[in-house]
Amino acid sequence: MLQIETERRGIIQTTFSFFSPAEAAKSQFPETKYMGSKQVLLPFILSRLSALRFDRVLDAFSGSGCVAYALKQQGVEVHANDFLKSAFHIARSTIENNATFLSDSELEALLKPNKKARGFIEFTFGDRYFTSEDNRFLDNLWANIQELGGPIKRSLALTAACRAAMKKRPRGIFTFTGMKGWDGRRDLRMSMKDQFLIAIHQIHAAIFSNGRKNKAFCKDVFCLDPKGYDLVYIDTPYISPYSDCDYTRRYHFIEGYCTYWKDAEILEHTSTRKIKSYPTDFSTRAGAVDAFGRLFNHFHNSDLVVSYSSNGIPSRDQMVSLLKRFKRKVEVHETEHQYSHGNHHHKVGSNNNAVREYLFIAS
Ligand SMILES: C[S@@+](CC[C@H](N)C(=O)[O-])C[C@H]1O[C@@H](n2cnc3c(N)ncnc32)[C@H](O)[C@@H]1O
Repeated sequence: MLQIETERRGIIQTTFSFFSPAEAAKSQFPETKYMGSKQVLLPFILSRLSALRFDRVLDAFSGSGCVAYALKQQGVEVHANDFLKSAFHIARSTIENNATFLSDSELEALLKPNKKARGFIEFTFGDRYFTSEDNRFLDNLWANIQELGGPIKRSLALTAACRAAMKKRPRGIFTFTGMKGWDGRRDLRMSMKDQFLIAIHQIHAAIFSNGRKNKAFCKDVFCLDPKGYDLVYIDTPYISPYSDCDYTRRYHFIEGYCTYWKDAEILEHTSTRKIKSYPTDFSTRAGAVDAFGRLFNHFHNSDLVVSYSSNGIPSRDQMVSLLKRFKRKVEVHETEHQYSHGNHHHKVGSNNNAVREYLFIAS
């Protein structure tokens, strides 16, 4: 057993870090509306994975973090990666982090007025997304987060800030401005400060140790070292006739917030003031087949488990042939699924989002 020190509720406690299945089962990952989240598909995915033997796993496109988290609950070593900083911070807070919490005094310090607050959000976004009070809260919070000791604590606070900002947007996204979609529900009416405090509480409830050295990365998938994984779980963005797969476009505000827009190129001519999207090899019809081929090649030494949908391009059969180039055995499991995100508001809940969800297992 590894003895570690953990700060919780302002008190330094000594705890033992080991994997307790009971503690893992009690820990709770915050619910998410993240585009493409596999949260409701977890029972399907985990039941199919139970036939495989693995001890070290990579979730290469971790997004909301729910799959990596469920794998952490199984007691295996988990590495989680996503090129979005907001996704990275949630992975560092809940997957890499086994025992660090924000104390009450640190939480109080995060809420205090800070003379160094710069007002960038208030100035740049005005009433596009939030009230002045909420903008000022986020501006001030950013200055306070810079004074928190340690990268994991900063990740915890940033994750809560991102979650609060998403909760205060209809559908959790930043592709439109103003009150569109505003239905007066409690989450939208609540102050940013209250949302932030709730989010901290929910993230704290998710922290547990599985006794392993888990890791979070923020890289383009092709820049990851592919060595040493028994299993790689792959859940790329996929283009479909109904939806693009531009995560930066949907989540640009929280992505900008993670660095306070340092080095981010804001597209001034856009009404949303979004940042320039990160290029990804999976986002074009012309490039997607080639990108999957290179991805499977990159991780060819590991078992590959790929989530995919019947709406996706390339097709199911193309995906099977691509996987067969690198792996002897390819199984296809499927179930029905309804995604909550369409490309356009009127398509949410329409049949275009009802798909067959596939899980390819290639070994
Ligand atoms: C379908 S989502 C993953 C959803 C996740 N499995 C979940 O359950 O929440 C795809 C993710 O891939 C990330 N992504 C897209 N292109 C990437 C790339 N080239 N390298 C790393 N991450 C990438 C996106 O930011 C997005 O979070």
